[in-house]
Amino acid sequence: MSKNPLSRRQFMQIGTGALVSTTVAKNVLQPHILSAATLSGKPVPPSDTVRFASIGTGVRGCEHLMASLNVPGIQCVAVCDLYDSRHTAAQEAVKNPSVPATGDYRAILDRKDVDSVLIATMDHQHRRIFEDACAAGKDVYCEKPMSHTVEEGFAMVEAAHKNGRMVAVGSQRVSSILYAKAKEIYDSGKLGEVFSINAYWDRNSPSGAWVYPIPPDASESTIDWKTFLIGAPNHSFDPYRFFRWRCFTDYGEGLGGDLFVHLLSGIHFITSTNAPALRAQSSGGLYHFKDGREFPDLIETLYDYPNFRVTLRCNLNNNGGEFIGFYGTQGTMIIKDNTLSFRPEDTRPEPEGYSIYGWPAALRNQYLQKWHAEHPLPAALASKIDDTGESWVTPPGYSDTVDHQANFYNAVRTRKPVVENEVFGNHTAIGCHLANFSYFEKDVAVWDPAAKKIVKG
Ligand SMILES: NC(=O)c1ccc[n+]([C@@H]2O[C@H](COP(=O)([O-])OP(=O)(O)OC[C@H]3O[C@@H](n4cnc5c(N)ncnc54)[C@H](O)[C@@H]3O)[C@@H](O)[C@H]2O)c1
Repeated sequence: MSKNPLSRRQFMQIGTGALVSTTVAKNVLQPHILSAATLSGKPVPPSDTVRFASIGTGVRGCEHLMASLNVPGIQCVAVCDLYDSRHTAAQEAVKNPSVPATGDYRAILDRKDVDSVLIATMDHQHRRIFEDACAAGKDVYCEKPMSHTVEEGFAMVEAAHKNGRMVAVGSQRVSSILYAKAKEIYDSGKLGEVFSINAYWDRNSPSGAWVYPIPPDASESTIDWKTFLIGAPNHSFDPYRFFRWRCFTDYGEGLGGDLFVHLLSGIHFITSTNAPALRAQSSGGLYHFKDGREFPDLIETLYDYPNFRVTLRCNLNNNGGEFIGFYGTQGTMIIKDNTLSFRPEDTRPEPEGYSIYGWPAALRNQYLQKWHAEHPLPAALASKIDDTGESWVTPPGYSDTVDHQANFYNAVRTRKPVVENEVFGNHTAIGCHLANFSYFEKDVAVWDPAAKKIVKG
C-alpha cells in the first residue's frame, strides 16, 4: 500500500474533475427485432412465412412457442412431446388450441409443409432428432448444449453439412443487443489486450437447482417412458428422472450443459473464438442439494485458450446472478445480468510510490525530482482519463430469445449465415464436456483436436 496520500494519477484526476463525478450513466439499448425479423426492413410477405414445429414442448419449448408469437413471418404448424399434458401446454403457449399435437416426431418430419424444427428435448435426445430432421430436409434450431457427448457433436455437424441444412444452436445470449454492444467494444480494441476473462452464473433457489415439482398426472400412461430412454441406459419408470433430468448423467450435463455453455457461448462470440479451449481443470462438489443427483451443485473450471484464460463458476448455493468480466490492459468490461459496463484503465505513467518509502528522504527526493523532470505534468494532464466509464442496459421486457429466433428464421429464408451455427455450438458444448470430464476424472482435461477427443492431461 502506498504511503503517498494521493498518487499522481489521483492528483491528475482531481485536476480534471474525474474523481468528483462518479455517476455512470446508463444508456438504454434499442432492440433490433423489428429490423432483424423483417426482410430489408419490410414486413415478411405471407409467401415467405417459415412454418416450424416444436419437438419437445416442456419448459423451454413452451418458452419458445410464446416467444415465437413476437417473431414476424413464422408460424407454428405442429407440436410434439412425450408427455400428454405438454400437448395442451404447447397449444396454450402458442395460443392455438387446434395446432396438431403428436408424440411421434417422425410424423412431423414426414410433412412437406414443415420448413424447420425446433428441438427442445432433453439433451440426450438432441442427436437422434437432429440427424433425422436434417435427413428429412428440415432446417433445425437445436437447444443448447448441442450435444450430450463429444462424439455426438461431430456426428451432428456432419449431418447438417451432408444435408445442407441451416442450423442454429440455442444459446440466445449471442443474439442479445447487450452482447452485440459488448462485441463492438471488444473489437474496437478499447480493452487493450485481454488475458483474463472471468464469468459466473450463481443461483440458489430450488427452481434454479432444477428441483422441479412432479405434475400430479405424471405416470406411465401419460409419459412415453420407453421413447424417453432411447439413447440412454434402461431404467424403470421414474418421474424424477424425467422431470429433473439435468441432475442425471444419462440425460444431461449438469451445470456444464445448463449454464457454462451460455457463458462460453457469450465469451466465444465476443472474442470471435471458434474452437474449444486447449484444456480445462475443474473443481467443485455437491454441498447442499443432496437429493440423489449425480452432478455437483458447485463447479469451478479454469480454461486455457491460446490468448487468454477463462475461469467459470456455477454455484447453486448463492444467488450472485450472471456475470462475465473481461480484464484488459486498457480497460475492463463487465456484463452483469442485463447491464454492460466499460471502464478504461488508467495507464498514464506515475512514479513508483511504495518501495521508495524504504529509502532515505534524500534518495527518494532525488528519484522523484528526476522522474518528474522526465515526465512533465502538463503533458500528462493533457491526456484526460474518464474513469467513470459508460454503461448500457436492455430495455424493459427485452427478450434475446426472440432475437435469436428471428436470426434463425431470417437465415432459413435468406440462407445467409446464422449467428450461432452447428460448428460454433459444437465447440461450446465441448467446453462443457471438458469441464465435466475434468470434474469426474479428477484430472486435467486436454482437447485433442486431431483425434477430436478429450484426453487426460
Ligand atoms: N436456451 C435456454 O436458455 C434454455 C433454457 C432451458 C432449457 N434449455 C434447453 O432446452 C432443452 C429442453 O429443456 P427443458 O427445460 O424444456 O426440459 P423439459 O424436461 O421441461 O422438456 C423437455 C421435453 O422434451 C420432450 N421430449 C424428449 N424426448 C422427446 C422426443 N423424442 N420426442 C418428443 N418430445 C421429446 C419431453 O417429453 C419433455 O417434455 C434442453 O436441451 C435444455 O438444455 C435451454
